[in-house]
Amino acid sequence: MPPVVIAADYGGPEVLTVRNEPTPEPGPGQARVAIKASGVNPVDCKMYSGAFGRDPGRLPMRLGLEAAGIVTHLGPDAVGPVGPVHAGDEVIAFRAPGAHAGELVVPAQSLVPKPEALDWAQAAGLLLTGATAWHCLVATGVASGDTVLIHAGSGGVGAMAVQLAADRGASVIATASPARHELLRELGAIPVEYGPGLADRVRSAAPAGVDAALDLIGADEAVDVSLELVADRTRIATIAAMGRAAATGIRALGGAPGADPGTEIRAAARPELVRLASEGRLRVIVSQTFPLTSVADAHRAIMTGHTTGKIALIP
Ligand SMILES: NC(=O)c1ccc[n+]([C@@H]2O[C@H](COP(=O)([O-])OP(=O)(O)OC[C@H]3O[C@@H](n4cnc5c(N)ncnc54)[C@H](OP(=O)(O)O)[C@@H]3O)[C@@H](O)[C@H]2O)c1
Repeated sequence: MPPVVIAADYGGPEVLTVRNEPTPEPGPGQARVAIKASGVNPVDCKMYSGAFGRDPGRLPMRLGLEAAGIVTHLGPDAVGPVGPVHAGDEVIAFRAPGAHAGELVVPAQSLVPKPEALDWAQAAGLLLTGATAWHCLVATGVASGDTVLIHAGSGGVGAMAVQLAADRGASVIATASPARHELLRELGAIPVEYGPGLADRVRSAAPAGVDAALDLIGADEAVDVSLELVADRTRIATIAAMGRAAATGIRALGGAPGADPGTEIRAAARPELVRLASEGRLRVIVSQTFPLTSVADAHRAIMTGHTTGKIALIP
């Protein structure tokens, strides 16, 4: 029986266990996928940390939202968003609740083809952060000729946003600690260090001004500097500082109450992200992989808030 990651209680990574459980047969419109890698995201930890409440009815809880693997079985009428799905197809599954597992049954509508240019770990990490970054750029109207400030440019969402903004022809200023600056340059950004004095460093890097800003970390500094440098508040977005967004009128994006989920924008982003990755125009930076049995260590790593690009779990 394939392994499955379970949060047996609310708490820290110590509540995680790996069990072997049978996988159900796929029903109508569903596919079964043998998972080769799953992407790790901060939200995976928030699910059982209590950040979203502690409803005992949600336990035991399966975790993970994105994976890459091979279709093994199909239910009737299993059609993906870009056409029929077949056994043997190499796919990315997103959104795929329960993706931290060896096998998964998902709606075929959650499957898109895996780009050959990406390995399994990279493919597993393409879509959650990629669709989030895409939504941020659409919501703030980032286009060729703009200068955009991206806070936390070397993180999971940040590394996607930097590349996608540069691909649109924008000039990109991105924040990270100095050890990540060479990576930011490679991805197409002018790097600046976050911390005291940030606004002045951004002004030096962008003397003609900043048109839009993305807060991809939720730090007060990121919101404050964005408000200081960007005149039009509709061109500032946050994916993590929801309270600050409500108080200041900047855009709040994502699944939190009051935020714009951008469901259609994010769904439409999936084939675009696959295409850009296939064409070599979008890299997925995987800085660490962990065996599925070390899921607690992977979650401890992402919870530091200082990992680079993506982390993947390998069943
Ligand atoms: N609303 C949504 O739809 C949505 C979607 C995805 C994620 N999120 C949320 O967005 C946040 C980021 O997600 P993620 O996957 O990108 O996380 P992540 O990969 O863990 O982000 C880590 C990055 O944050 C940087 N960082 C840490 N402290 C910083 C600071 N004070 N200022 C600037 N950068 C800083 C780190 O840079 P250094 O290593 O250089 O310190 C690191 O590169 C999380 O809270 C996540 O839950 C929301």
